[in-house]
Amino acid sequence: MQYCTLGRTGFRVSEISFGAWAIGGSWGAVDDKESLAALNKAADCGLNFIDTADVYGMGRSERLLAQFKRDRKQEIVIATKAGRKLPAQAVEGYTRENLTQWVDDSLKNLAVDALDLLQLHCPPTALYYRPEVFGYLDDFVAAGKIRHYGVSVERVEEALKAIEYPGVKTVQIIFNCFRLRPAALFFDQALKKQVGILARVPLASGLLTGKLRRDSRFAADDHRAFNRHGEAFDRGETFSGVDYDTALDAVEEIRRVMPEGWSMAQFALRWILMFEAVTCAIPGAKKPEQVADNCRASDLPALSPETMAAVEKIYSKKIAPLVHQRW
Ligand SMILES: NC(=O)c1ccc[n+]([C@@H]2O[C@H](COP(=O)([O-])OP(=O)(O)OC[C@H]3O[C@@H](n4cnc5c(N)ncnc54)[C@H](OP(=O)(O)O)[C@@H]3O)[C@@H](O)[C@H]2O)c1
Repeated sequence: MQYCTLGRTGFRVSEISFGAWAIGGSWGAVDDKESLAALNKAADCGLNFIDTADVYGMGRSERLLAQFKRDRKQEIVIATKAGRKLPAQAVEGYTRENLTQWVDDSLKNLAVDALDLLQLHCPPTALYYRPEVFGYLDDFVAAGKIRHYGVSVERVEEALKAIEYPGVKTVQIIFNCFRLRPAALFFDQALKKQVGILARVPLASGLLTGKLRRDSRFAADDHRAFNRHGEAFDRGETFSGVDYDTALDAVEEIRRVMPEGWSMAQFALRWILMFEAVTCAIPGAKKPEQVADNCRASDLPALSPETMAAVEKIYSKKIAPLVHQRW
């Protein structure tokens, strides 16, 4: 496992980190024992950074991480998020009182005195034009409740605006073989400002593992069944916002350009790590064998320029018309 410095936080984090949404909920049935086994496998592989949120299973994911950390000796850095407990996303909900309550809840769930990294959880675009909210976050840092803060964004433009605030040390954004736009403009700016980048939905919700088929079925409480068209939250969070059948065609084209002997998940993750601005990819996983498969990506050789160009060509032809101008 290779490690990178996470922006200006000073944390050295594993290039392959862990997305802890699925172990909280919204991905069909989940078993805490198996989730803990997956987390332990991750730590055995050298993974030391985990992304969660207060709303993943309404605290279940955070509490599981507290339990996991109690049993492990090595240092594990945890990033959590706040903002999605609001009944409806509105800038007016991001008050000092609400944020204080959300931070206090996460401190309790994670059983810590200070949060390593707090991210605003995809707030409305208008929130980025409210400097007072970033002021509240500065106050939490000064009070010792959080060590660092960052944002999780839906759109490139939100990321560009967010990093104007000097306290924003990390940006979490969707970036994968089906979502290339962040690399065009934002990555350079992030490098210049030493902002850490967490690449989320790196496997396009499982599509980029190559295991999904036209007849794959998902449980009713799996967002891959209930949010395909953005019915519950931003459409981009499910299958990266790409139409399912088009994505499956593109997956077959990617299969043809992969080096032999690699799993597609490893390929998709190694592809992300080719971008210097990216600090880490945060694949979600519920099973130890998925974690082991994903962690191996960090030690694989670099992809050739021809392979990188081949993925870009597939993206431009099949995927870009569906997503490029949306996020
Ligand atoms: N708004 C936000 O801030 C936001 C939104 C979305 C995600 N995130 C963060 O980003 C993380 C990653 O995104 P994600 O979990 O949505 O999607 P993802 O990482 O693209 O896909 C994860 C899913 O792919 C499957 N998988 C993972 N590794 C595999 C492997 N090696 N082989 C086969 N299948 C594998 C698993 O699902 P199955 O086994 O069930 O198929 C897993 O739950 C989240 O966990 C969360 O921390 C944040």
